[in-house]
Amino acid sequence: WPAQAALISEINALKKQRDAVILAHNYMTPEIFHGVGDYVGDSLGLAKEAAKSKAKVIVQAGVHFMAETSKILSPEKTVLIPDLRAGCSLASSITGADVRLIKQRYPGLPVITYVNTTADVKAETDICCTSANAVQIVEWAAKEWGVDRVILIPDEYLARNVAAQTTVGIIAWKGHCEVHKRFTVQDIADMRDAWPDAEVLAHPECPEEILRAADFAGSTAAMTDYVEQRKPKRVVLITECSMASNIKGDVPEVEFVGPCNLCPHMKRITLENIRDCLLNMQFEVTVPEEMAERARLAVQRMIDLPP
Ligand code: 13P
Ligand code: SF4
Repeated sequence: WPAQAALISEINALKKQRDAVILAHNYMTPEIFHGVGDYVGDSLGLAKEAAKSKAKVIVQAGVHFMAETSKILSPEKTVLIPDLRAGCSLASSITGADVRLIKQRYPGLPVITYVNTTADVKAETDICCTSANAVQIVEWAAKEWGVDRVILIPDEYLARNVAAQTTVGIIAWKGHCEVHKRFTVQDIADMRDAWPDAEVLAHPECPEEILRAADFAGSTAAMTDYVEQRKPKRVVLITECSMASNIKGDVPEVEFVGPCNLCPHMKRITLENIRDCLLNMQFEVTVPEEMAERARLAVQRMIDLPP
């Protein structure tokens, strides 16, 4: 595709000119993921890269909460997102005021929030988590606070899936990922009928009955590792559809089958708007300093925990 190749070269040249890096989430389209992403990965991996990066400018090829997380961790850098409308149904399910009410109702319990939240929510949080470390963080927080219950918000399904793996009690919220909640047990049954040898991998943002019907559950990075290390003959990825397209090239012997659900927010990011973002230094993501300071404690505490 000559037009795409030209845009990719233009973006890569602009990156040098601006001293910028592009942090690309696993749900970006393959031309972004492979063509211009300097760091690619899951939410946890991108947050760690944002903290380490030496570049002056970070372009977040992902959604708004990811850009806010980068800004929280790197207040001295300019953080840009190519489309300010790239939101997330989980992040918009809860506000900082909601968290303050939850804390009043359950005083003394640690508040763990999924990174898929706004800076305002992170500022009310004791420690953040991602789908890659949620069980570990729940158990760490229960021990640290000396309690047998914790607050884990806002993803109801992640909370239930974590609850199935620990004896720590979980107080949840009713947020959902609009992409992962669309998968059904029937989807998996249909895949198993059509390809009995296919291995089914699902993201923990899916409803619990989906995870029970799957062979493996893990974050986008954990699913990638599973496929790259075990190289199953056929695989079904119960997650955003671009994941399969992005891994395919590295494991040509694996056949990817299954339903395709796209995240409309992730898909707002395109090569064109990444180019415009670097050209015009738009759209800057900022977080008020007092809020950022409190949110940083919660994100940094997660990053500092041993793997
Ligand atoms: P990971 O943390 O597994 O990358 O997934 C989070 C997600 O859904 C991003 O939107
Ligand atoms: Fe949010 Fe779901 Fe889209 Fe991830 S896939 S950004 S959790 S709506």
